[in-house]
Amino acid sequence: MNPPRYFGLIPAAGIGARLGVGIPKQYMPLAGKPMLAHVLDTFAAAVIAHTFVVVSAEDGYIHDLVAAAPHWSGRITILFRGGENRHASVLNGLQAIRAQLGDDDWMLVHDAARPGLTGVLIENLIRVLQNDDVGGLLALPMVDTLKRSDQNGRVAQTVERSALWAAQTPQMFRYGLLVQALTQATALTDEAGAIEMLGLQPRLIEGSPRNFKVTLPHDVALAEMFLRS
Ligand code: CTP
Ligand code: MG
Repeated sequence: MNPPRYFGLIPAAGIGARLGVGIPKQYMPLAGKPMLAHVLDTFAAAVIAHTFVVVSAEDGYIHDLVAAAPHWSGRITILFRGGENRHASVLNGLQAIRAQLGDDDWMLVHDAARPGLTGVLIENLIRVLQNDDVGGLLALPMVDTLKRSDQNGRVAQTVERSALWAAQTPQMFRYGLLVQALTQATALTDEAGAIEMLGLQPRLIEGSPRNFKVTLPHDVALAEMFLRS
């Protein structure tokens, strides 16, 4: 049996409407380089055989980004296959690389909008999951007391938080299982949700606050702080 291989898949075909900086947020400079460049530097330095980046067919920024980073040469492939939502972009990307992947190869799917990912987090995820039957994801245990609201903005219920986690990425599943799950699922925000629909239970591995998703304008200062530290 061949040793397992690990591949990166970075959905980067969104427009960043909620951040609203005038360009797709993955190309916004943070701490000296574009958000997506932070992610690709981390993947290029990790034990990842190859990383695929899914961008929109009309993307006008990726060419310059890649041209400015010769150290990614041979480590990264751009797929102009973005879909109408994240789920579609990921599935399009996976289908486009079918000939290069085996069903047992591991895919690490990671948001371009999480520039705070580190090599240590990737190594930890791989170490815990390399012999797992299902796969899993980075996530953060909730620390705040959680409230469910009613329609009037009042507390309807305090939610027991001890078993609650906030999902992050990378989400790591074997290629064949992931394609099957995403093909059957509809309108999901993460890969783990599709695997769960098959009746399987992805494993939760503790991530880090610095791996948060840059989504709203007030996230920018926090991201810069983590990236400079
Ligand atoms: N994404 C994608 N294809 C889409 C939509 C999103 O590849 N059609 C990617 C984004 O580029 C991002 C990740 O999925 O890396 C997480 O999505 P999100 O944070 O929602 O990014 P955007 O969709 O760009 O932001 P917004 O929802 O505010 O427009
Ligand atoms: Mg979005």
